[in-house]
Amino acid sequence: MSSFNKYPHVFSPIKLGTMTLKNRIQFAPMICALETPKGEITQEYIDWIAQQARTGASLITIGGTSIDHETGDDFESEIDVTTDMNVVGLKRLADEAHYRGAKISIELVHAGRGAMPRLLKDGVAISSSVFPATGGPEGVGNTHIREMNYSDIEHICNRYADIAERMARCEFDAIMLHCAHGNLIAQFMSPSFNHRTDWYGGSFENRMRFPLQIMKAVRDRVGRKLNIDMRISGDELIEGGLKVEEMIEFVKLAQQYVDSVHVSVGLVIEADYFYYSMPPYYHPHCHNVKYAEAFKKCPDIHIPVTTVGSITTVAEAEEILASGKADMVAMARPLMAEPDLLKNAYAGKEDQSRPCLRCYECASAVAHQLHCAVNPTCGRETQYRVLPKVDEKKKCVVIGGGPSGMLAAQVLSKRGHEVVLFEKEQELGQKLYEISNLSFKSDMRPDSEVVNLFSDLIPEVYVIGDAASVGNMRHATASAFIPAVEC
Ligand SMILES: Cc1cc2nc3c(=O)[nH]c(=O)nc-3n(C[C@H](O)[C@H](O)[C@H](O)COP(=O)(O)O)c2cc1C
Repeated sequence: MSSFNKYPHVFSPIKLGTMTLKNRIQFAPMICALETPKGEITQEYIDWIAQQARTGASLITIGGTSIDHETGDDFESEIDVTTDMNVVGLKRLADEAHYRGAKISIELVHAGRGAMPRLLKDGVAISSSVFPATGGPEGVGNTHIREMNYSDIEHICNRYADIAERMARCEFDAIMLHCAHGNLIAQFMSPSFNHRTDWYGGSFENRMRFPLQIMKAVRDRVGRKLNIDMRISGDELIEGGLKVEEMIEFVKLAQQYVDSVHVSVGLVIEADYFYYSMPPYYHPHCHNVKYAEAFKKCPDIHIPVTTVGSITTVAEAEEILASGKADMVAMARPLMAEPDLLKNAYAGKEDQSRPCLRCYECASAVAHQLHCAVNPTCGRETQYRVLPKVDEKKKCVVIGGGPSGMLAAQVLSKRGHEVVLFEKEQELGQKLYEISNLSFKSDMRPDSEVVNLFSDLIPEVYVIGDAASVGNMRHATASAFIPAVEC
């Protein structure tokens, strides 16, 4: 364990299956809509993977990727891994991660009743039983559902195995089987969504048969050439759904096939439970950790356990790891908001990190293009990763010391211009103070972390002008950033 920084547990290596990870932070899976509508890999996608690796996260996991377009797609924007079409591009993604010292995995998913009707061959979804979806994000969820027969079950198992084999060929280090959030595999496991009376329904043993069959099919096909991670909901939170006690029993069985378990919570298709899988600002930080801890406490579970959800600082991650509540911490939004989160913590410069506001702006990106309210370069790595230095220094005036004004001033200053920022109030980030007076919006409080970060590089501040809108922060910051970087 390293001892030369404040976070020895975070920055210590761990073995997951056959791969050694350089630290305990995983970039959690996120679909990003940076591929073409046909699922082809673009330069933007390659640059996004490179950027994820640059954060220093030891394992990058590409977001939910459909294993069967005819019956299982939930979002338009997913890489096509069902044929060899993308083999060259996938290998490039693996290279981009490996060159920067990260391992790479991909989350494989079949949405079952959560599939989007317009993306399916005949609009009909397949599932364990017929439970029309009540509506998830962006039109995800299906009301036309057919109960799967044995040939469907065999087909889906083979699809997982075929794709796992392809990912091994593309030099991926691992796959993540998406058994969480009420996707198809969970639809078989959950008593809420499985009312079958055959081999695959009823008893615990029967409900777990389909996931275990998939895991065995994958392991038999890839052997030790590929590591297998699985994401589960430690608790579906819905009445009558999967509970942590049953999931512990499941993991005890699954660990003969999988190398690690990643514990999320909730459901995606049932909107009320979605807010636990991706906790917004009104949920406490680290609120899913207790579920991971329950798996860690079980003496019969021998594989590493990952926790995820609103763990926004390296200090929080360190506490979780040091107290033995999990072996790995996954982060999605905090690393989007601040790609240097880990590097700053390692260097003792935590106060330089721009905090994630958990504002949910990125969640609206899943069907469009990855973006972040406070980091306008996120999803635009191809264009804007390196800020161009100016040939000719100009004197720039920025009116308004809200988030976008501060960002514009910071970017102009970094590029070498001379900047003056005008703000009429006594403090920068005024509307952030107003908005964060609501107790549940404390993540948006412009304490030293937010304002110092923006204002540190601003040479002169005159307090006149009007504060920027925080109502639509993404547009505000982006429309300040882009002219500042292009002028
Ligand atoms: C834009 C976006 C896309 C996401 N896509 C996926 C996905 O494809 N599969 C998945 O299991 N979780 C997905 N998630 C959930 C994250 O993996 C993570 O569990 C969640 O954001 C909570 O972690 P955080 O608080 O560190 O962001 C997504 C989250 C975001 C913000």
